[in-house]
Amino acid sequence: MEMHSSIIFCMFFLPWLSMVGAKVPAMIAFGDSSVDAGNNNYIATVARSNFQPYGRDFVGGKPTGRFSNGRIATDFLSQAFGIKPYVPPYLDPNHNISHFATGVSFASAATGYDNATSDVLSVIPLWKQLEYYKGYQKKLSVYLGESRANETVAKALHIISLGTNDFLENYFAIPGRASQYTPREYQNFLAGIAENFIYKLYGLGARKISLGGLPPMGCLPLERTTNFVGGNECVSNYNNIALEFNDNLSKLTTKLKKDLPGIRLVFSNPYDILLQIIKRPAQYGFQVTSMACCATGMFEMGYACSRASSFSCIDASRYVFWDSFHPTEKTNGIIAKYLVKNALAQFLH
Ligand SMILES: *[C@@H]1O[C@H](CO)[C@@H](O)[C@H](O)[C@H]1NC(C)=O
Ligand SMILES: *[C@@H]1O[C@H](CO)[C@@H](O)[C@H](O)[C@H]1NC(C)=O
Ligand SMILES: *[C@@H]1O[C@H](CO)[C@@H](O)[C@H](O)[C@H]1NC(C)=O
Ligand SMILES: *[C@@H]1O[C@H](CO)[C@@H](O)[C@H](O)[C@H]1NC(C)=O
Repeated sequence: MEMHSSIIFCMFFLPWLSMVGAKVPAMIAFGDSSVDAGNNNYIATVARSNFQPYGRDFVGGKPTGRFSNGRIATDFLSQAFGIKPYVPPYLDPNHNISHFATGVSFASAATGYDNATSDVLSVIPLWKQLEYYKGYQKKLSVYLGESRANETVAKALHIISLGTNDFLENYFAIPGRASQYTPREYQNFLAGIAENFIYKLYGLGARKISLGGLPPMGCLPLERTTNFVGGNECVSNYNNIALEFNDNLSKLTTKLKKDLPGIRLVFSNPYDILLQIIKRPAQYGFQVTSMACCATGMFEMGYACSRASSFSCIDASRYVFWDSFHPTEKTNGIIAKYLVKNALAQFLH
């Protein structure tokens, strides 16, 4: 009888207790499509991907709202930290606090640091993601009790990943910001928002934070396709801005570590690894880098990718990019592994 009940105790309570005692009990994501697991399915926007062929290599071939053929970086990161293999979206009514206690994404595809970026396609601005996070903390306190909830928040890894859309969907795409700011001034404006956001997370009890850098955004297939003068090569102006902005974020990280006692903040930079994959695809098992798998591989993403999906490639694992703006699951996995090794490993111990 005694043995029996202790087995039951182990089976039902140990996994939960061990998560609370874990180094990183939860993975919490803020940002854009790089970490949106499907929040945009529940808001009125065209920035969606909850239809075929998205998710065709996800478990069950299910389109979830992730902008990929399968998992995204946060899913791989969560698994690498011994949590679960998928980080669910906060707005999904099929999930509740018992699932979110070990990980949740507040991210929204097509958003940016700048409120004007989230306005372009009516997606969830960063400040609203933080409001959702406050609501989440209240639910977590009810679910775990206040002291365990506080401990979970302090130990959870908070992932911030956005910025590409501020430049490609907003600054360089529509009038407005470009008449107010030079590119460099705009970078400073965005870095200021990032700083403020980290201050607020810290104020809410977060201590482990990963600030994500920009990818070589001039090499996204959409930008290459439209680089008519540059012969479909990577757009060097966009890559240079990504490098400069990453330098800003890296310096910001150093500064905030001085300003905020007890913070464990890292700059997670995907730039070098993604550029390396694009330049030497064969080394990573890829064959195609300049075009995407979905549809013609030149322009399509979202609904356009779906409509023209009969043209899509057969084997996405040969491609670095899934649609004209987003990496394949295989690329996401390589980037996540690189980030764990080069930036996030300190949180494993
Ligand atoms: C969460 O949902 C599961 C079903 O998926 C249910 O069994 C559980 O009671 C719910 N928990 C809470 C705290 O609402
Ligand atoms: C973005 O909008 C929110 C809500 O209106 C506001 O509180 C915040 O100050 C705005 N951010 C910037 C940088 O203007
Ligand atoms: C939990 O954190 C909140 C906010 O920092 C604080 O006010 C509260 O006292 C903490 N509660 C416990 C039980 O540690
Ligand atoms: C961002 O980088 C640019 C170019 O390197 C620099 O001029 C600017 O001062 C930096 N801004 C911040 C906030 O670090």
